Amino acid sequence: MTLRFLVVATLSLATAPAALHADDTDLVARGAYLARIMDCAGCHMPRAPDGMPLVEKGLAGGTVGFELPGLGTFWPPNLTPDKTGLGDWSEAEIATAITTGVLPDGRVLAPVMPWASYAALNADDLAALVAWLRAQPPVANPVPEPVAAGAPAPAPFYRVTMPAP
Ligand code: HEC
Repeated sequence: MTLRFLVVATLSLATAPAALHADDTDLVARGAYLARIMDCAGCHMPRAPDGMPLVEKGLAGGTVGFELPGLGTFWPPNLTPDKTGLGDWSEAEIATAITTGVLPDGRVLAPVMPWASYAALNADDLAALVAWLRAQPPVANPVPEPVAAGAPAPAPFYRVTMPAP
């Protein structure tokens, strides 16, 4: 599925944006490659009830959140350039969130978002990844805000349970 996603993304790049310069196209293609191997879609792509990723929705936000005991439950946000996604973010804000976990309002992302690993990205790869995110079609898909530990969850989430003794 992720492969199909890449093929779709690459095809749409090949046919669509006449406005992009050759250099930009290279940058965006590098970003597509990085997004694939860094598995952004594994968390940020919506899924059907049977668990299959909805490739046509791109990175419009994960359907299933992650409960982190004691910390809260977190749904992977919409990363497309829509208002319900990263539409109002600057490129610098996106780059900072990916590599430091710090959001524009100062909150630090829960560690289920692997920003501590992505902190090792070099500047060129980070620019390519952000350029690819910016080049995606906007998809309107509001994703629930995080909820505090123990608060009712508005959407499905993954929970770790211990086996019975
Ligand atoms: C293992 C799951 C997982 C993977 C893989 C992942 N993310 Fe995330 N990401 C999350 C979760 C969950 C959040 C929300 C965490 C929170 O609210 O504290 C998040 C938040 C973000 C945010 C902040 C968005 C906002 O509106 O607050 C950005 C930007 C982001 N991720 C980009 C990426 C990119 C780019 C990739 C791939 C390179 C990626 N993520 C891979 C789970 C993941």
